[in-house]
Amino acid sequence: MEILWKVSLTNYTFACKEWGFFQLINHGVCNSLIEEFKKEIDEFFKLPLEEKQKFGQLKGDIQGYGQMFVVSDEQKLDWADMLYLITLPENLRKPHILPKFPPSLRNVVEAYSAELKKLAMKLLNIMARALEIKPEEIETLFEEGLQSMRMNYYPPCPQPDQVIGLSSHSDGDGLTFILELNDTQGLQVRKDGTWVNVKPLPSAFVANIGDVMEVLSNGTYPSIEHRGVVNSVKARMSLATFLSPSIHGEFGPAPSLLSSGTPPKFRRIGSLDYLKGAFAQKELAGKSFINTLRI
Ligand code: OGA
Ligand code: NI
Repeated sequence: MEILWKVSLTNYTFACKEWGFFQLINHGVCNSLIEEFKKEIDEFFKLPLEEKQKFGQLKGDIQGYGQMFVVSDEQKLDWADMLYLITLPENLRKPHILPKFPPSLRNVVEAYSAELKKLAMKLLNIMARALEIKPEEIETLFEEGLQSMRMNYYPPCPQPDQVIGLSSHSDGDGLTFILELNDTQGLQVRKDGTWVNVKPLPSAFVANIGDVMEVLSNGTYPSIEHRGVVNSVKARMSLATFLSPSIHGEFGPAPSLLSSGTPPKFRRIGSLDYLKGAFAQKELAGKSFINTLRI
């Protein structure tokens, strides 16, 4: 089975409720920018290891080239290399990462970051209206939001069943856009207990609901577990762009959704505490962090 929701900006509420995932076409992000970024990321991962390590993770930080969610020398690591960086707000960018990128990569990251921020705000506004939330209750949270990107490289593995590219998880952000960088399939979404393949569509974004949106919508738009599997002969590359709330605020189910008959399903939390909690997880284990907010 494959997900083939081809959704335009005006027609996706069904996908949000039922799947938490949808393919977004006609999104307005210029195709030449997307193609340029794909080429740049491909070149980045082809650099010699010493070059990539110049952008390595510093102790205690997750930004940079390396692995995420590493907590012990003994754990089984995901079968992937990645580069994670915060792109917005600009004052949270690490001086040894984006500013030190080759200029062509840096320019494309900056242009893509701006385009995806615009797209995310547009989509959040449409979602707010569909959910009958006052748009400003969502917009103020994300306007100065935290945007980050994760470039993933999943090498082929001769025994693909023995490893996992990216462990099952739901995203801790508000809204995620995944761009498939080549045509190797690997993303799977959990639907009613079964893993369903997502087939890459060129120049579409795979958009998905994150935990924060599940909370804001008081559970109407669920964040869905997904994972990355690896291929035995072909490498896979993907790029995920995350939008989280501004670190200077707090959030909970949108006040305009609540009434005496519709109580909140989650408690409110400061965004910074939330982000710290979400990143301090011992491992990527399904939807564990959001469950701590459930009432
Ligand atoms: C992620 C993610 C999926 C992929 O980075 O959170 O789910 O296809 N990536 O690489
Ligand atoms: Ni994810």
